[in-house]
Amino acid sequence: MIDNPVRGRFNSWLLGALDDYMHARYGEAKTRLLKGAPPVVLEIGPGSGANLRYYAPGTRVIAIEPNARMHERLRRRAEQFGVALDIHPVGAEHIDVATHSVDLACATLVLCSVANPAAVVAEMRRVLRPGGRFVLIEHVVAPSGSLIASLQRAISSPWRWVFEGCNLCNNTTAILEEAGFHRVEIEPLVVRTVLLPIRYQIIASCTC
Ligand SMILES: C[S@@+](CC[C@H](N)C(=O)[O-])C[C@H]1O[C@@H](n2cnc3c(N)ncnc32)[C@H](O)[C@@H]1O
Repeated sequence: MIDNPVRGRFNSWLLGALDDYMHARYGEAKTRLLKGAPPVVLEIGPGSGANLRYYAPGTRVIAIEPNARMHERLRRRAEQFGVALDIHPVGAEHIDVATHSVDLACATLVLCSVANPAAVVAEMRRVLRPGGRFVLIEHVVAPSGSLIASLQRAISSPWRWVFEGCNLCNNTTAILEEAGFHRVEIEPLVVRTVLLPIRYQIIASCTC
């Protein structure tokens, strides 16, 4: 369980404050990834609930959220959107969800925050049924040799501290491609943002 009274509160507030911006920036991609979502969805690292608006009312969301400071906003958002929440306050590396029991797993801006992204992806493969999908949006390491890659390395430690584990230098594309999914579709995205360290992103759908 993650429970830092200062950074946890700050990050929960920040995610809530950025909600409209995130909706404007990622709404189209999220709508596409979550279109036709089944009645039960597994979401890892839902934070303060940025994705709940994209599920149909009545959807049950198994929410793997180890950060206790996110839970209050997450519950409020679930109520607002008529989503039934089942919060597991643990990391997504090992979850108490049966093997091959899930049709759709979702993660937005989460694999950057986990200590072992390859272990989390393996866990998603374990719980997904054959044909099930793991959909995600993530910021990734910039092209090797670029100025942004140098910037990412230079500020990596303080960034990680402020944003509770967020790693700017993950090669998530390689992790997904090497995870053993049946099919991996990755759409690279270069976001126009002043936040240069998170400029390079991917939208991905991985099918078991
Ligand atoms: C940058 S926030 C993204 C929140 C939300 N998905 C969004 O798009 O706004 C990263 C989230 O991952 C969560 N997280 C951190 N470590 C995790 C882990 N090991 N397993 C699952 N979630 C984790 C954090 O608590 C936080 O809620």
